[in-house]
Amino acid sequence: MSKWSGFYQHSVSERRNLISQVCHLTVSEQKFMQQNADSIGDAQVENYLYSFQVPVGLLLDLPVNHEKYLVPMATEEPSVIAAANHGARLLAKGTGVITAQAERLMTGQVLIQNLGDVDATEKILMQQATQLIAVANQAKPSLIQRGGGAQRIEVKVLDATTLSLDLLVDPKEAMGANSVNTMLEAVASFLRNQGYDVLMAILSNYSIHALTHAQTRIPVDALVEHSDLSGSQIAEQIVAASRIEQLSVERAVTANKGTLNGIEAVVLASGNDTRNVNAALHAYASHTGRYRGLIRWTMEDDELVGTTELPLLVGSVGGSIGIVPAVQLNRRIMNEPDAKMLADLIIATGMAQNLAALRALVTDGIQQGHMSLQAKSLAVQVGARPEEQTPLVEALQQQAQSMDAAKAKMMLRKMRENK
Ligand code: MEV
Repeated sequence: MSKWSGFYQHSVSERRNLISQVCHLTVSEQKFMQQNADSIGDAQVENYLYSFQVPVGLLLDLPVNHEKYLVPMATEEPSVIAAANHGARLLAKGTGVITAQAERLMTGQVLIQNLGDVDATEKILMQQATQLIAVANQAKPSLIQRGGGAQRIEVKVLDATTLSLDLLVDPKEAMGANSVNTMLEAVASFLRNQGYDVLMAILSNYSIHALTHAQTRIPVDALVEHSDLSGSQIAEQIVAASRIEQLSVERAVTANKGTLNGIEAVVLASGNDTRNVNAALHAYASHTGRYRGLIRWTMEDDELVGTTELPLLVGSVGGSIGIVPAVQLNRRIMNEPDAKMLADLIIATGMAQNLAALRALVTDGIQQGHMSLQAKSLAVQVGARPEEQTPLVEALQQQAQSMDAAKAKMMLRKMRENK
Protein backbone atom coordinates (compact mmCIF):
# COMPACT_ATOMS: atom_id res chain seq x y z
CA MET A 1 0.00 0.00 0.00
CA SER A 2 1.31 3.49 -0.89
CA LYS A 3 2.36 5.65 2.05
CA TRP A 4 0.07 8.29 0.60
CA SER A 5 -3.11 6.21 0.60
CA GLY A 6 -5.85 8.03 2.49
CA PHE A 7 -3.72 11.20 2.56
CA TYR A 8 -6.77 13.34 1.82
CA GLN A 9 -8.63 11.83 4.81
CA HIS A 10 -6.00 13.01 7.32
CA SER A 11 -6.37 16.29 9.18
CA VAL A 12 -4.25 19.16 7.85
CA SER A 13 -1.78 18.85 10.72
CA GLU A 14 -1.44 15.09 10.18
CA ARG A 15 -0.78 15.74 6.50
CA ARG A 16 1.87 18.33 7.37
CA ASN A 17 3.53 15.92 9.82
CA LEU A 18 3.65 13.18 7.24
CA ILE A 19 5.10 15.39 4.52
CA SER A 20 7.60 16.83 7.02
CA GLN A 21 8.87 13.32 7.80
CA VAL A 22 9.01 12.16 4.18
CA CYS A 23 10.72 15.33 2.89
CA HIS A 24 12.87 15.89 6.03
CA LEU A 25 11.50 19.41 6.46
CA THR A 26 13.21 21.63 9.05
CA VAL A 27 11.41 22.97 12.11
CA SER A 28 11.22 26.42 10.55
CA GLU A 29 9.77 24.99 7.33
CA GLN A 30 7.14 23.17 9.38
CA LYS A 31 6.38 26.35 11.28
CA PHE A 32 6.06 28.23 7.99
CA MET A 33 3.39 25.80 6.77
CA GLN A 34 1.53 26.05 10.07
CA GLN A 35 1.59 29.85 10.10
CA ASN A 36 0.33 30.07 6.54
CA ALA A 37 -2.59 27.67 6.86
CA ASP A 38 -6.27 28.33 7.48
CA SER A 39 -9.55 26.45 7.47
CA ILE A 40 -10.68 28.21 4.28
CA GLY A 41 -7.80 26.74 2.28
CA ASP A 42 -8.65 23.30 3.66
CA ALA A 43 -12.25 23.77 2.52
CA GLN A 44 -11.15 24.91 -0.95
CA VAL A 45 -8.75 22.19 -2.09
CA GLU A 46 -7.90 18.56 -1.47
CA ASN A 47 -4.69 17.43 0.25
CA TYR A 48 -4.33 20.98 1.63
CA LEU A 49 -1.03 21.84 3.36
CA TYR A 50 -0.81 25.63 3.54
CA SER A 51 -1.67 28.74 1.52
CA PHE A 52 0.73 30.19 -0.99
CA GLN A 53 0.79 33.96 -0.78
CA VAL A 54 0.73 36.31 -3.74
CA PRO A 55 1.49 40.00 -3.16
CA VAL A 56 -1.40 42.41 -3.70
CA GLY A 57 -0.60 45.96 -4.86
CA LEU A 58 -2.81 48.81 -5.92
CA LEU A 59 -3.57 50.29 -9.31
CA LEU A 60 -4.57 53.89 -8.59
CA ASP A 61 -7.09 56.04 -10.41
CA LEU A 62 -7.80 53.74 -13.36
CA PRO A 63 -10.03 55.86 -15.61
CA VAL A 64 -13.05 53.89 -16.81
CA ASN A 65 -16.29 55.33 -18.22
CA HIS A 66 -15.52 58.80 -16.84
CA GLU A 67 -14.84 57.63 -13.27
CA LYS A 68 -11.60 56.71 -11.50
CA TYR A 69 -11.18 53.38 -9.73
CA LEU A 70 -8.83 51.73 -7.27
CA VAL A 71 -7.99 48.23 -8.45
CA PRO A 72 -6.11 45.67 -6.35
CA MET A 73 -3.77 43.48 -8.41
CA ALA A 74 -2.42 40.13 -7.21
CA THR A 75 0.83 39.21 -8.93
CA GLU A 76 4.33 38.11 -8.09
CA GLU A 77 5.93 39.64 -11.20
CA PRO A 78 8.04 42.74 -10.42
CA SER A 79 7.09 45.93 -12.27
CA VAL A 80 3.65 44.78 -13.46
CA ILE A 81 1.84 47.04 -11.00
CA ALA A 82 4.24 49.93 -11.56
CA ALA A 83 3.67 49.63 -15.32
CA ALA A 84 -0.13 49.40 -14.92
CA ASN A 85 -0.06 52.62 -12.85
CA HIS A 86 2.05 54.31 -15.50
CA GLY A 87 -0.40 53.17 -18.19
CA ALA A 88 -3.37 54.38 -16.14
CA ARG A 89 -1.78 57.83 -15.80
CA LEU A 90 -1.32 57.99 -19.58
CA LEU A 91 -4.91 56.84 -20.19
CA ALA A 92 -6.17 59.51 -17.78
CA LYS A 93 -4.63 62.22 -19.99
CA GLY A 94 -7.16 61.30 -22.67
CA THR A 95 -10.70 59.96 -22.60
CA GLY A 96 -9.89 57.10 -20.24
CA VAL A 97 -11.27 53.71 -21.23
CA ILE A 98 -14.83 53.65 -22.53
CA THR A 99 -16.50 50.23 -22.55
CA ALA A 100 -19.60 48.53 -23.94
CA GLN A 101 -21.09 45.05 -23.64
CA ALA A 102 -23.79 43.83 -26.04
CA GLU A 103 -24.54 40.63 -24.11
CA ARG A 104 -23.12 38.55 -21.29
CA LEU A 105 -23.97 34.90 -21.83
CA MET A 106 -22.09 31.76 -20.94
CA THR A 107 -21.85 29.09 -23.63
CA GLY A 108 -22.25 25.39 -22.85
CA GLN A 109 -22.00 22.39 -25.15
CA VAL A 110 -23.91 19.13 -25.42
CA LEU A 111 -21.83 17.02 -27.80
CA ILE A 112 -23.80 14.49 -29.82
CA GLN A 113 -22.08 11.80 -31.91
CA ASN A 114 -22.82 8.91 -34.26
CA LEU A 115 -25.61 10.73 -36.08
CA GLY A 116 -26.92 9.39 -39.40
CA ASP A 117 -27.97 12.74 -40.80
CA VAL A 118 -26.49 15.76 -39.00
CA ASP A 119 -28.38 18.29 -41.12
CA ALA A 120 -31.73 16.69 -40.34
CA THR A 121 -30.80 16.49 -36.63
CA GLU A 122 -29.82 20.16 -36.65
CA LYS A 123 -33.30 21.04 -37.95
CA ILE A 124 -35.07 18.82 -35.41
CA LEU A 125 -33.07 20.27 -32.52
CA MET A 126 -33.75 23.84 -33.63
CA GLN A 127 -37.49 23.01 -33.82
CA GLN A 128 -37.23 21.74 -30.23
CA ALA A 129 -35.42 24.89 -29.05
CA THR A 130 -38.21 26.12 -26.74
CA GLN A 131 -38.51 22.71 -25.09
CA LEU A 132 -34.72 22.32 -24.69
CA ILE A 133 -34.47 25.76 -23.11
CA ALA A 134 -37.31 24.84 -20.74
CA VAL A 135 -35.54 21.60 -19.75
CA ALA A 136 -32.39 23.59 -19.01
CA ASN A 137 -34.22 26.21 -16.97
CA GLN A 138 -36.17 23.63 -14.95
CA ALA A 139 -32.80 22.27 -13.76
CA LYS A 140 -31.83 25.63 -12.23
CA PRO A 141 -34.93 27.38 -10.87
CA SER A 142 -32.85 29.60 -8.55
CA LEU A 143 -31.18 31.20 -11.57
CA ILE A 144 -34.59 31.89 -13.13
CA GLN A 145 -35.67 33.52 -9.85
CA ARG A 146 -32.65 35.81 -10.10
CA GLY A 147 -33.73 36.85 -13.60
CA GLY A 148 -31.23 34.71 -15.51
CA GLY A 149 -31.39 31.36 -17.29
CA ALA A 150 -30.98 29.76 -20.69
CA GLN A 151 -31.84 32.19 -23.47
CA ARG A 152 -31.19 30.42 -26.75
CA ILE A 153 -29.60 27.44 -28.42
CA GLU A 154 -27.34 27.19 -31.44
CA VAL A 155 -26.47 23.99 -33.30
CA LYS A 156 -23.05 23.59 -34.86
CA VAL A 157 -22.30 20.73 -37.24
CA LEU A 158 -18.77 19.54 -36.41
CA ASP A 159 -18.48 16.77 -39.03
CA ALA A 160 -20.70 14.31 -40.92
CA THR A 161 -21.78 12.48 -37.75
CA THR A 162 -21.16 14.90 -34.89
CA LEU A 163 -22.71 18.12 -33.70
CA SER A 164 -22.58 20.51 -30.81
CA LEU A 165 -25.79 21.79 -29.28
CA ASP A 166 -24.75 25.09 -27.71
CA LEU A 167 -26.81 26.45 -24.85
CA LEU A 168 -26.44 30.17 -24.14
CA VAL A 169 -27.17 31.11 -20.55
CA ASP A 170 -27.43 34.40 -18.69
CA PRO A 171 -25.68 33.58 -15.38
CA LYS A 172 -26.54 37.00 -13.84
CA GLU A 173 -23.85 38.03 -11.34
CA ALA A 174 -22.05 34.65 -11.27
CA MET A 175 -19.46 33.41 -13.72
CA GLY A 176 -21.94 30.58 -14.25
CA ALA A 177 -19.88 27.41 -14.40
CA ASN A 178 -21.93 25.37 -11.93
CA SER A 179 -25.34 26.52 -13.14
CA VAL A 180 -24.50 25.94 -16.78
CA ASN A 181 -23.03 22.48 -16.17
CA THR A 182 -26.16 21.50 -14.23
CA MET A 183 -28.40 22.76 -17.03
CA LEU A 184 -26.34 21.03 -19.70
CA GLU A 185 -26.51 17.70 -17.91
CA ALA A 186 -30.30 18.01 -17.73
CA VAL A 187 -30.45 18.67 -21.49
CA ALA A 188 -28.03 15.80 -22.13
CA SER A 189 -30.18 13.33 -20.22
CA PHE A 190 -33.34 14.62 -21.99
CA LEU A 191 -31.63 13.99 -25.35
CA ARG A 192 -30.31 10.58 -24.30
CA ASN A 193 -33.90 9.63 -23.44
CA GLN A 194 -34.81 10.54 -27.02
CA GLY A 195 -32.16 8.09 -28.26
CA TYR A 196 -29.29 10.47 -29.01
CA ASP A 197 -25.71 9.33 -28.38
CA VAL A 198 -24.57 12.20 -26.14
CA LEU A 199 -20.82 12.01 -25.55
CA MET A 200 -20.60 14.73 -22.94
CA ALA A 201 -22.02 18.00 -21.67
CA ILE A 202 -19.76 20.79 -20.45
CA LEU A 203 -19.47 24.56 -20.45
CA SER A 204 -17.15 26.19 -22.96
CA ASN A 205 -14.46 28.57 -21.76
CA TYR A 206 -14.56 30.29 -25.14
CA SER A 207 -16.80 33.09 -23.85
CA ILE A 208 -17.54 34.52 -27.25
CA HIS A 209 -20.99 35.69 -26.10
CA ALA A 210 -19.51 37.77 -23.29
CA LEU A 211 -17.40 40.26 -25.21
CA THR A 212 -16.47 43.54 -23.58
CA HIS A 213 -15.57 46.26 -26.10
CA ALA A 214 -13.25 49.09 -25.12
CA GLN A 215 -11.77 52.18 -26.67
CA THR A 216 -9.42 54.88 -25.45
CA ARG A 217 -8.04 58.10 -26.99
CA ILE A 218 -4.91 59.85 -25.77
CA PRO A 219 -3.52 63.11 -27.14
CA VAL A 220 -0.11 62.19 -28.56
CA ASP A 221 1.61 64.97 -26.59
CA ALA A 222 0.66 63.20 -23.36
CA LEU A 223 3.05 60.38 -24.33
CA VAL A 224 6.20 62.52 -24.23
CA GLU A 225 7.16 62.56 -20.52
CA HIS A 226 10.96 62.22 -20.23
CA SER A 227 11.64 61.17 -23.80
CA ASP A 228 13.62 63.00 -26.47
CA LEU A 229 11.06 61.84 -29.03
CA SER A 230 8.00 63.94 -29.83
CA GLY A 231 4.52 62.72 -28.89
CA SER A 232 3.63 61.89 -32.48
CA GLN A 233 6.92 59.99 -32.93
CA ILE A 234 6.17 57.86 -29.86
CA ALA A 235 2.57 57.33 -30.99
CA GLU A 236 3.76 56.30 -34.47
CA GLN A 237 6.15 53.78 -32.92
CA ILE A 238 3.37 52.35 -30.74
CA VAL A 239 1.19 52.01 -33.85
CA ALA A 240 4.09 50.28 -35.62
CA ALA A 241 4.49 47.90 -32.65
CA SER A 242 0.78 47.14 -32.80
CA ARG A 243 1.07 46.42 -36.54
CA ILE A 244 3.88 43.92 -35.88
CA GLU A 245 1.55 42.13 -33.42
CA GLN A 246 -0.81 41.54 -36.34
CA LEU A 247 2.01 40.03 -38.42
CA SER A 248 4.24 38.09 -36.04
CA VAL A 249 2.76 35.36 -33.84
CA GLU A 250 5.95 35.38 -31.74
CA ARG A 251 5.49 39.05 -30.96
CA ALA A 252 1.70 38.79 -30.55
CA VAL A 253 2.00 36.07 -27.88
CA THR A 254 4.45 38.21 -25.90
CA ALA A 255 2.32 41.32 -26.19
CA ASN A 256 -0.77 39.38 -25.10
CA LYS A 257 1.16 37.86 -22.21
CA GLY A 258 1.97 41.42 -21.15
CA THR A 259 -1.69 42.45 -21.40
CA LEU A 260 -2.56 39.36 -19.35
CA ASN A 261 -0.03 40.41 -16.70
CA GLY A 262 -2.55 43.07 -15.74
CA ILE A 263 -5.71 41.17 -16.56
CA GLU A 264 -4.82 38.03 -14.61
CA ALA A 265 -3.71 40.05 -11.60
CA VAL A 266 -7.16 41.65 -11.31
CA VAL A 267 -8.97 38.40 -12.11
CA LEU A 268 -7.04 36.67 -9.29
CA ALA A 269 -7.50 39.53 -6.81
CA SER A 270 -11.25 39.50 -7.51
CA GLY A 271 -11.53 35.77 -6.75
CA ASN A 272 -12.20 34.76 -10.34
CA ASP A 273 -10.76 31.92 -12.41
CA THR A 274 -7.53 33.05 -14.09
CA ARG A 275 -7.31 29.91 -16.28
CA ASN A 276 -10.79 30.53 -17.68
CA VAL A 277 -9.95 34.10 -18.70
CA ASN A 278 -6.48 33.17 -19.94
CA ALA A 279 -7.80 30.34 -22.15
CA ALA A 280 -10.57 32.50 -23.60
CA LEU A 281 -8.27 35.42 -24.39
CA HIS A 282 -5.59 33.39 -26.10
CA ALA A 283 -8.23 31.54 -28.15
CA TYR A 284 -9.88 34.83 -29.07
CA ALA A 285 -6.52 36.17 -30.23
CA SER A 286 -6.92 33.67 -33.10
CA HIS A 287 -10.55 34.38 -33.96
CA THR A 288 -9.63 35.84 -37.37
CA GLY A 289 -7.83 32.59 -38.28
CA ARG A 290 -4.44 33.90 -37.22
CA TYR A 291 -3.09 34.61 -33.72
CA ARG A 292 -2.82 38.40 -33.26
CA GLY A 293 -2.29 41.05 -30.60
CA LEU A 294 -5.48 41.58 -28.61
CA ILE A 295 -5.26 45.38 -28.37
CA ARG A 296 -4.86 47.49 -31.49
CA TRP A 297 -3.35 50.99 -31.52
CA THR A 298 -3.91 53.45 -34.36
CA MET A 299 -3.47 57.18 -34.82
CA GLU A 300 -6.29 59.56 -35.66
CA ASP A 301 -5.23 63.20 -36.11
CA ASP A 302 -3.23 63.97 -32.98
CA GLU A 303 -4.65 61.15 -30.89
CA LEU A 304 -3.41 57.63 -30.18
CA VAL A 305 -6.47 55.36 -30.26
CA GLY A 306 -6.57 51.97 -28.54
CA THR A 307 -9.33 49.51 -29.39
CA THR A 308 -10.10 45.99 -28.25
CA GLU A 309 -12.86 43.54 -27.53
CA LEU A 310 -12.19 40.68 -25.16
CA PRO A 311 -14.17 37.66 -23.97
CA LEU A 312 -14.35 38.29 -20.22
CA LEU A 313 -16.74 36.16 -18.24
CA VAL A 314 -16.06 37.01 -14.60
CA GLY A 315 -18.43 37.04 -11.65
CA SER A 316 -19.13 39.12 -8.58
CA VAL A 317 -20.55 36.16 -6.64
CA GLY A 318 -19.93 32.40 -6.44
CA GLY A 319 -16.81 30.25 -6.26
CA SER A 320 -14.26 31.54 -3.79
CA ILE A 321 -15.60 35.12 -3.96
CA GLY A 322 -17.87 34.77 -0.95
CA ILE A 323 -15.50 32.80 1.25
CA VAL A 324 -12.00 34.24 0.87
CA PRO A 325 -11.53 37.31 3.13
CA ALA A 326 -8.82 38.80 0.86
CA VAL A 327 -11.22 38.71 -2.08
CA GLN A 328 -13.93 40.44 -0.03
CA LEU A 329 -11.41 43.08 1.01
CA ASN A 330 -10.28 43.59 -2.60
CA ARG A 331 -13.88 43.91 -3.71
CA ARG A 332 -14.48 46.59 -1.07
CA ILE A 333 -11.43 48.52 -2.32
CA MET A 334 -12.86 48.29 -5.87
CA ASN A 335 -16.20 49.61 -4.57
CA GLU A 336 -18.03 46.26 -4.89
CA PRO A 337 -18.22 46.09 -8.70
CA ASP A 338 -20.97 44.03 -10.29
CA ALA A 339 -19.94 41.47 -12.91
CA LYS A 340 -20.12 43.93 -15.80
CA MET A 341 -18.18 46.63 -13.97
CA LEU A 342 -15.53 44.10 -12.99
CA ALA A 343 -15.07 43.14 -16.66
CA ASP A 344 -14.74 46.87 -17.45
CA LEU A 345 -12.02 47.29 -14.80
CA ILE A 346 -10.22 44.22 -16.12
CA ILE A 347 -10.23 45.33 -19.76
CA ALA A 348 -9.05 48.82 -18.76
CA THR A 349 -6.23 47.33 -16.70
CA GLY A 350 -5.20 45.25 -19.72
CA MET A 351 -5.13 48.39 -21.89
CA ALA A 352 -3.09 50.32 -19.31
CA GLN A 353 -0.64 47.42 -19.06
CA ASN A 354 -0.25 47.05 -22.83
CA LEU A 355 0.15 50.79 -23.39
CA ALA A 356 2.85 51.10 -20.71
CA ALA A 357 4.72 48.08 -22.11
CA LEU A 358 4.61 49.35 -25.71
CA ARG A 359 5.62 52.87 -24.72
CA ALA A 360 8.59 51.50 -22.79
CA LEU A 361 9.58 49.10 -25.58
CA VAL A 362 9.59 51.73 -28.32
CA THR A 363 11.40 54.36 -26.21
CA ASP A 364 13.83 53.37 -23.44
CA GLY A 365 13.40 49.58 -23.65
CA ILE A 366 11.87 47.46 -20.92
CA GLN A 367 14.93 46.93 -18.72
CA GLN A 368 15.25 50.50 -17.49
CA GLY A 369 11.85 50.50 -15.81
CA HIS A 370 12.46 47.03 -14.40
CA MET A 371 15.74 47.93 -12.78
CA SER A 372 14.71 49.39 -9.45
CA LEU A 373 12.25 46.56 -8.75
CA GLN A 374 14.75 43.98 -9.91
CA ALA A 375 17.32 45.55 -7.55
CA LYS A 376 14.80 45.45 -4.70
CA SER A 377 14.05 41.77 -5.19
CA LEU A 378 17.77 40.95 -5.55
CA ALA A 379 18.43 42.74 -2.24
CA VAL A 380 15.78 40.63 -0.49
CA GLN A 381 17.00 37.48 -2.26
CA VAL A 382 20.58 37.88 -0.98
CA GLY A 383 19.40 38.45 2.58
CA ALA A 384 19.71 42.23 3.01
CA ARG A 385 18.11 43.33 6.29
CA PRO A 386 15.36 46.00 5.96
CA GLU A 387 17.79 48.82 6.90
CA GLU A 388 20.34 47.53 4.35
CA GLN A 389 17.89 47.32 1.45
CA THR A 390 17.73 50.98 0.35
CA PRO A 391 21.54 51.53 0.18
CA LEU A 392 22.01 48.17 -1.54
CA VAL A 393 19.27 48.92 -4.09
CA GLU A 394 20.85 52.31 -4.83
CA ALA A 395 24.29 50.75 -5.26
CA LEU A 396 22.91 47.99 -7.46
CA GLN A 397 21.10 50.44 -9.73
CA GLN A 398 24.40 52.12 -10.48
CA GLN A 399 25.57 48.79 -11.92
CA ALA A 400 23.10 49.35 -14.78
CA GLN A 401 23.19 46.32 -17.09
CA SER A 402 25.20 43.92 -14.94
CA MET A 403 22.98 43.43 -11.93
CA ASP A 404 22.79 39.86 -10.64
CA ALA A 405 22.60 37.86 -7.40
CA ALA A 406 26.36 37.22 -7.22
CA LYS A 407 27.06 40.93 -7.54
CA ALA A 408 24.37 41.79 -5.00
CA LYS A 409 25.86 39.30 -2.52
CA MET A 410 29.33 40.73 -3.00
CA MET A 411 28.10 44.30 -2.57
CA LEU A 412 26.17 43.42 0.57
CA ARG A 413 29.29 41.77 2.03
CA LYS A 414 31.35 44.89 1.24
CA MET A 415 28.70 47.16 2.72
CA ARG A 416 28.78 45.14 5.94
CA GLU A 417 32.61 45.12 6.07
CA ASN A 418 32.73 48.93 5.63
CA LYS A 419 30.35 49.56 8.48
C1 MEV B 1 6.76 41.18 -19.59
O1 MEV B 1 6.16 40.42 -18.56
C2 MEV B 1 5.70 41.74 -20.53
C3 MEV B 1 6.25 42.35 -21.83
O2 MEV B 1 7.10 41.41 -22.49
C4 MEV B 1 5.05 42.67 -22.70
C5 MEV B 1 5.40 43.08 -24.12
O3 MEV B 1 6.47 42.68 -24.62
O4 MEV B 1 4.56 43.76 -24.73
C6 MEV B 1 7.08 43.58 -21.56
